[in-house]
Amino acid sequence: MKNKNTTDRLVTKPLLHVLAGERSQIPPIWLMRQAGRYLPEYRAIREKTKSFLGLCFDPKSASEVTLQPIRRFGFDAAILFSDILVVPHALGQSVTFETGEGPRLDALSEPSALRRLRAEIDHDLLSPVYETIARVKPELPDAVTFLGFCGAPWTVATYMIAGGGSAEQVPARQFAYRHPEAFKDLIDLLVEASASYLIRQFQAGVDAVQIFDTWAGVLPIDEFDKWCVKPCARIVATVREHIPDARIIGFPRGAGTKLESYLAGVPVDAVGLDWMIEPGFARDRIQKRRPVQGNLDPLALLSGGSVLDRGVDAVMAAFGSGPFIFNLGHGVLPETPVSHVERLIARVRGLPPKG
Ligand code: CP3
Repeated sequence: MKNKNTTDRLVTKPLLHVLAGERSQIPPIWLMRQAGRYLPEYRAIREKTKSFLGLCFDPKSASEVTLQPIRRFGFDAAILFSDILVVPHALGQSVTFETGEGPRLDALSEPSALRRLRAEIDHDLLSPVYETIARVKPELPDAVTFLGFCGAPWTVATYMIAGGGSAEQVPARQFAYRHPEAFKDLIDLLVEASASYLIRQFQAGVDAVQIFDTWAGVLPIDEFDKWCVKPCARIVATVREHIPDARIIGFPRGAGTKLESYLAGVPVDAVGLDWMIEPGFARDRIQKRRPVQGNLDPLALLSGGSVLDRGVDAVMAAFGSGPFIFNLGHGVLPETPVSHVERLIARVRGLPPKG
């Protein structure tokens, strides 16, 4: 049965074809942070919810927000509306989002602070997320791939240790050098928690998942191997023990030429590229081995006009002749005009410009 289901899904969903290694004439397109503040319909719902986490844990609103960019733009993938920091929350750490300031957590500044965390993830706290998936699933057009996600252990740990965002992730890097054993315990905990969270997302109905390693780029190669490559590889292996055909996209942002080590160590189905990567390297050394996703500069989308057009054409020229999913090199910026997103999609799909 499983094989038949897989085949059915592949027939109708172009993005899954690419994850299986095929090239599409017109690349499937979705955008990181495609649901969010640049959309007036998102801001309308956000204004009615007290807190950002409250929105993530309200299945009715979260499913609506997940569907908004699909209805408006007809993207090829919907990404679950949630956040990578629901995992520390479900491990017992306090997480809040201050408007305009980003996330606030009770920082794990000493190894002893790790004792405040649960030994495993509390799935009851995450049940609204699984309910959101169940609600979105039947609403999606057949051709749209439903993506779940989690943060990679390293990136999530940077927020847990610093208590929020931090310049060059210094607190986490320092913690890892000073207390390698405690840091390894934290990463191990996050590997288990993230794998089990992704398994539940698949069971609830997502077609594929993305692992966001936003801060992978700040680590030197040995640390990159220890804290990014190996933990992500273990997540992929654990997920596939339970969901053998699980499709997984890895996004080690800022990895640069370390992407080769990532690719060698993590058996993801596709790799997300940021906008900083050298296109020749990415095409010849990365896309030859694995489908790629990316990598328009979010600022080119924000700028619009001929800057946007040239940016799109350069990305298509670099990656359009192989297995490729069009995306940005990081998330949509909140100030981005909706008309620029329309123009982007039209250009990628070879349709007359809208905006
Ligand atoms: O549309 C989507 O991409 C799905 C939803 C999604 C959000 N966050 C919603 C969100 C996803 C996939 C994420 C991932 C995420 N969250 C990452 C990895 C990807 C990346 O952007 O690097 C990280 C590092 C986080 C942590 C996080 N969440 C930060 C640092 C912030 C504050 C900065 C900001 O952009 O506001 C958030 C808040 C957040 N997550 C918002 C949204 C729509 C904005 C909050 C609001 O609406 O009030």
